Amino acid sequence: MKIEVLIPEQDVRDRIKEMADALSEKYAGEEVLLVGILNGSVFFLTELAQKMSIPVEIDFMAASSYGSGTESSGRVLVTKDLERSVKDAHVIIVEDIVDTGQTLHLLTEMIMERHPASFELAVLLDKPARRKVCLDADYIGFEIPDAFVVGWGLDYDQKYRDLPYIGVITEE
Ligand code: PRP
Repeated sequence: MKIEVLIPEQDVRDRIKEMADALSEKYAGEEVLLVGILNGSVFFLTELAQKMSIPVEIDFMAASSYGSGTESSGRVLVTKDLERSVKDAHVIIVEDIVDTGQTLHLLTEMIMERHPASFELAVLLDKPARRKVCLDADYIGFEIPDAFVVGWGLDYDQKYRDLPYIGVITEE
């Protein structure tokens, strides 16, 4: 197995800075709650928060798909909820990747039921070829092809999340 660089580290950092600037401008003067989805979001969320020029609060949720075999059943189980109320908060879900869209579809519904002041979705990677439900992020770092990617929170068997670039697993 080999990992090839798909998006170099500096390109990822530059793009996150652009996303942070856009968010800072849009939410200037407001209090923002960044909601990270564990585990994959932590590296992106940290970089995004540190590059934003406005104060942010953070909280986390966790969810996992379940079903038999390698294909997701489409059912998503929420394994950790937020610690705080999002009522009247400006909520931005921060996620490493949107793939089938099922995870973020469910979590978006959950948060919207709690009546935040506003809600947006920021994802580092978007893999539209795999989408099963309609899901459009408001901020997208990079659109990528249907390949197995690692780094910036994305894992292969729980490894490689800490790679500072986006890599593609290839056979070798
Ligand atoms: C990954 C990723 C998203 C989800 C996207 O999480 O972090 O949460 O899958 O897939 P979807 O669009 O098909 O729902 P995973 O369940 O692998 O857990 P992890 O974040 O701990 O890696």
